Amino acid sequence: MTRIKNICCIGAGYVGGPTMAVIAQKCPEINVTVVDINEQRIAAWNDEDVENIPIYEPGLSKIVKEARDRNLFFSTDVDAAIDKADMIFISVNTPTKTYGIGKGMAADLKYIELCARQIARVSKTDKIVVEKSTLPVRTAEALKNILDNTGNGVNYQILSNPEFLAEGTAVDDLMNPDRVLIGGDLDNSEGKEAVEALVDIYAHWIPRERLLTTNVWSSELSKLTANAFLAQRVSSINAMSELCEKTGADVNEVSKAVGMDSRIGSKFLKSSVGFGGSCFQKDILNLVYISKSFGLHEVADYWEQVILMNDHQKRRFAAKIVQTLFNTVSGKKIALLGWAFKKDTNDTRESAAIYVADYLLNEQAEIVVYDPKVKTEQIYADLDYLNTRASKENRARVKVVDTPYEATKDAHAVALLTEWEEFKDLDWKKIYNKMLKPAFLFDGRRLLERKTKEEIGFEFYAIGS
Ligand code: NAD
Ligand code: UGA
Repeated sequence: MTRIKNICCIGAGYVGGPTMAVIAQKCPEINVTVVDINEQRIAAWNDEDVENIPIYEPGLSKIVKEARDRNLFFSTDVDAAIDKADMIFISVNTPTKTYGIGKGMAADLKYIELCARQIARVSKTDKIVVEKSTLPVRTAEALKNILDNTGNGVNYQILSNPEFLAEGTAVDDLMNPDRVLIGGDLDNSEGKEAVEALVDIYAHWIPRERLLTTNVWSSELSKLTANAFLAQRVSSINAMSELCEKTGADVNEVSKAVGMDSRIGSKFLKSSVGFGGSCFQKDILNLVYISKSFGLHEVADYWEQVILMNDHQKRRFAAKIVQTLFNTVSGKKIALLGWAFKKDTNDTRESAAIYVADYLLNEQAEIVVYDPKVKTEQIYADLDYLNTRASKENRARVKVVDTPYEATKDAHAVALLTEWEEFKDLDWKKIYNKMLKPAFLFDGRRLLERKTKEEIGFEFYAIGS
């Protein structure tokens, strides 16, 4: 059996970093080198103070501390790491295309292709190439084509090994996954051997029955399907939240009642201001694009509705703030608690908070943001990226502060947008006392208890009740 001694992972991001840290910790006999073209990111992974690694995930810094410079390395020397590796994970970003054919829908595979061409150029020995990034079904075919036609005549086996970790719980998800999916060419002995080599790595800590092997196309498509199903549940419960608000039903009660049906299950039925994160929207748009490109318009429309519902939910929440504040927020200070797309992460990609802030800024509100983990510059970068107004104006009209008390002082309204645990335990009486009256509190996460907030004096609105 092929025993892997050296792994290279291209892409030191939210997936590459944590995934490789866990592999290195669990497989001390394998050297794992994570490479990236982003020098700043690699420098941060190598920072002497392990608390400064670029990605915040509970438990991650401890693992990095244990494995770094033992058998876990971070480097910008991509060629050297490719050259040395028996197995190469491609874990680069696959964002939605912003230009040309498929603009706004298809996955932009330029970073993937660059990796393939670099692997082909550098490799002098046989390699197993593992797709870790989320990719359109049949991408492995394109990869193989590039590798076989531009390479140095070495053999490549391509595997698909999509990642199912969720941010904020990445370490737990990697340590104890529901399943690990490995797609490979199981009809061929070399393909089988490559699959076994990867199975062997995960078997260091994951029971074999949870290591699922399939053909490559099933593996690639299963990843898009899993994200589509998860996002669909959120959009489904969010659709019901609006109906709850009109009928006197409470979405938390509905969610509990529905989720206790074991056929439905209770997870991922929490109504919110809308799902965010780097992947749900991009992967569903990709699925919609693939379906359309096969002429499957009904399939495409079905999945697109999940995104349309999510956009509606974000807009509806922001509109509710404006409407409740007597139809104008012009010149009014509104405090946003939370900017990350969910708790326990510093990731803000596609966070609902960005869109709520943008909507309120269009209504001429003055925004003050507090988030325990997100850096000020990131908040401005997120707003600038939308291109709705000049960067200078975003800086003038949005303030980022260090405490929730500073954020809410003299505010007309508070909108809770990320479910950080610490928001539950704030001194809400103190916040109320320092706000303008009537003091409005909008809970976009169903984190706070209505009764106690109303007793304090807040005008309280919560999604879905
Ligand atoms: P990311 O943007 O955090 O990291 C990607 C990294 O790849 C960046 O640091 C970038 O500089 C680097 N990179 C790009 N091209 C490169 C090249 N040619 N050479 C070297 N480095 C290069 O992205 P991410 O969140 O880690 O996601 C990576 C992939 O994993 C995506 O396909 C995503 O859909 C998928 N995924 C993400 C998550 C998640 O929770 N973030 C979960 C599962 C799957
Ligand atoms: C999601 C999937 O859960 C992972 O399995 C997948 O690997 C990953 O996408 C990916 O491919 O990138 P992630 O986006 O990190 O993980 O986080 P989730 O916990 O799925 O949350 C996504 C969004 O949905 C967040 O904004 C969250 O607040 C929201 N959400 C989630 C709800 O509003 N309600 C819920 O019940 C669950």
